[in-house]
This record gives sequence, structure tokens and C-alpha cells, in this order.
Amino acid sequence: MTYQNYSLKQLQQIDAAHHLHPFTDHKELRETGSRIITHANGPFIYDADGTEILDGMAGLWCVNVGYGRDELADAAHAQMKELPYYNSFFKCSTPTPVLLSRKLAELAPKGVSQVFYGSSGSEANDTALRLVRHYWALEGKPQKNRIIARKMGYHGSTIAGASLGGMDMMHKQLGGAVPNIVHVMMPYAYELALPGESDHDFGLRAAKAVEDAILEAGADKVAAFIGEPVMGAGGVKIPPMSYWPEVQRICRKYDVLLMLDEVITGYGRTGEWFAAQTFDIEPDTITTAKALTSGYQPLSALLVGDRIAATLVEKGGEFYHGYTYSGHPVACAVALKNLEIMEREGLVDRVKNDTGPYFATALQERIGGHDLVGEVRSIGLMGAIEIVKDKATKERFLPAGSAAVTVRDHAIAQGMMLRATGDTMILSPPLIWTRETIDMACERIARALDLAQADLRKR
Ligand SMILES: Cc1ncc(COP(=O)(O)O)c(C=O)c1O
Repeated sequence: MTYQNYSLKQLQQIDAAHHLHPFTDHKELRETGSRIITHANGPFIYDADGTEILDGMAGLWCVNVGYGRDELADAAHAQMKELPYYNSFFKCSTPTPVLLSRKLAELAPKGVSQVFYGSSGSEANDTALRLVRHYWALEGKPQKNRIIARKMGYHGSTIAGASLGGMDMMHKQLGGAVPNIVHVMMPYAYELALPGESDHDFGLRAAKAVEDAILEAGADKVAAFIGEPVMGAGGVKIPPMSYWPEVQRICRKYDVLLMLDEVITGYGRTGEWFAAQTFDIEPDTITTAKALTSGYQPLSALLVGDRIAATLVEKGGEFYHGYTYSGHPVACAVALKNLEIMEREGLVDRVKNDTGPYFATALQERIGGHDLVGEVRSIGLMGAIEIVKDKATKERFLPAGSAAVTVRDHAIAQGMMLRATGDTMILSPPLIWTRETIDMACERIARALDLAQADLRKR
């Protein structure tokens, strides 16, 4: 590799001189220098100093089969040699997206059997937004185009993704969001449940916010509701089990389409292929990306329900939408092989029946009791640790978000990659984690919490 001719310092200098990073304060980054990850294997990543770090985030919620899979490299190599690229515009196709579409239809929840490809979750949500609005226009109801989304939802970083998302700081930098998208409360019981309110009741109340938004606009003006089954980037917010069935009931009552964003939860994370199956939801669209290829290639697949697809096919004429890399043959070849590996190794079942429950217990027993921890929660292999100053009152350290960054920095120094979102630590490891890997992670996190506590209580 050519980078080996450069020292770490040189790479950092070049990075600072030319590379604008996503979601980064560049001035701060240029002062500290970036952490340069050079290689990875199994559940571990290695930085340019050779330090081994257990990757608690599967890259960015995506490397579900872990690093160093020769089979994926071989699939890409073989496809690149045979046909590195051809498009799927003007009535063309290539074999791998064809076969991947059939595979995805087989894995998807009932009533979802069509696929539209892109290269990222953001693109797929852009497609989803256009498609649901187009659907209602084709059905003779162009005014039915409002989208209800949630505060703190994350749906990507394009204009459409950021508009659908509910992150204020992103809206502020948009210079004008996509019109007619409203955001309602999120199902986050830890901070939003009322004193004495049960989880069940809170879930119903959070769902009621969707109904209120529909009634406020008038059901004839609302196209769809969009949500992540479990909010990821917003802090692994796991809704009460009462939430989704009620949201679904409300959407059906008012004939509002249900769009699920499974960019994080898709492909095994919650212990089923899709969280729609975990929460028993029958969505009209499912946005997927990330773990579809385990991050080895950029690829997204918007899974489209039969109701929308039937209208698009029968009444739509040409759909003026698509990307150069829609159905990219190499990305689709890698996705097919990735899904084959997941099936062969039974990774989804393992999360459901073994590592998921073990992870939940380990987090509760070994992390949940720590003085800095207000709550731990998890579903499948997706977890959160709330960092607080006072467990009883849930008071946070000030300034907001700083305590989680302290924990994260100690965790990385302990060889454990975690992410800090607000005052929440989040975990989303590769699905190849075993009980032993979970034990190792808990030990490292517990040490990081002890060290962070010493720092934070001093302040
Ligand atoms: C739920 C969700 N939707 C959409 C996206 C955007 O995906 P991408 O970064 O591939 O555009 C993300 C990315 O983290 C996500 O978590």
C-alpha cells in the first residue's frame, strides 16, 4: 500500500491540508490530528500506531460480518474483472442486482417485494420521499404530501435526508428544508416519560403525537410517517413495545403510508433480518443500506411495498429518478456474498438467541450499576449507556455532551471504540461478536467509566 511510505504525522498533515470530513469541526480536528485507521481484522481495527481497538460500532453501524472477509474481496474482484460497471437505465440490467432483488424480496417482510438501489442511506431516503409523494399524485391525491417524522430522527445528510431527520443543528445549516415535513416527539422514555407513567402508556402517548399531527393537517394532506424502528444516531432510543403497533394502527386508520428507515437496523441488528419483523410492523417502504454489504461496498436498497409498486408500475409511466450507481454490479455481488455469509453462519439467529440476550444481561449487570450510568438498554446487538452526574435525579454533567466524550476518549485509550451522542454512549458491534467479545467489551467499558468518573468528579 502506498500509504506505508508515509509516517503517521505526514498522513495527518495531508489530511488536515486537504480532507474535509463529515460531521466534523475542522478547526478542532486540525489541532488534534485525525486517528488514522490502517487495517482491521475480525472484530478489531488497528490505527497507524498499530494499536488494536475492539470496534464497538461495526465501523458506522455497518460491518456486520466483521473485517477481513476474503470472500467479499473475492466476490468484488471477480465481478470487477467480469463486468465492473454497467447501468440499469434504459431497459438494461446486470445479473447481480437481478439476483440480489430476488434475495431481498425473500428476506423482506410480507408484502414488500420490490427494490430500488442507490449508494447510500441518504439517497435511498431521497428515493423513498419522492416515491411516496409520487404515489399519492398517481392516485389522484397530489395534495396528500405531508410527511410526519420525528425530532432527533436521523435519515441522512442530503437535503431530503436532513429535512426528514429531526436534528435542529442540521436544519439550521440547510438554508431551506424540503417543504411540508413536520416532526413529532420521539419515543424516548428515559427523558420524556412523565413521573409514574408506565413504559406502555408512554409508548401510546408518543404514538398519539403521530395521530395529533395527522389530525392537525387533515388526513387528506398526509402522505406518510417515517421512523427508524430504533432511533440510532439519535442515541439508540428503543421504543416501548406498545409504540409501533399503535403507530401502525393510526397510519392504517388515516390511510397514511408507513416508511421505515432500517439503514441501521436492517440485516440482523435486532435479531431478525429487519426490525419490522422484531416489532411486527408491515411497512410500505423500508430504507436499507450499511450492513447490506457489511460496509464493504457502498450500496443502498429501498425495499418497496407491493401497494406502492403496483401503482408505480400500472399508472406511473416513467419514474424520473435514479442514480448512475443504482444496482452497481460490484456492490450487488458483494451484497449477495455478504447475505450468504450471514445465512451460512446463522448470524441473525445468533443475535436473537445467544449474543443479543447475553449482551443485554452483561450491560445490565456489569455496566448498569456504575455511578455514572443512569440507564443501559439494548435490543439485539445495539445498545446505549446514559451518562449522568446523578443516577437518582438523572442530572447530567455540564456542558451537555462533554461527559460522554470523556468516557469515549477513555474507552478508546482502553482499546474500545464506542460513540458518544449527546450524553449517551452507543454500541452497535459486528454481529460476529461472541460471548467472549462481549465480556472483553464490558471490561474495557467499565474501566473507561472508572477513569472518566475520576476526571468528571474532579471538575
Ligand atoms: C437511520 C439512518 N438513515 C439514513 C442514514 C444515512 O445513510 P448514509 O450515511 O449512507 O447516507 C443513516 C446513517 O447513519 C441512518 O442511521
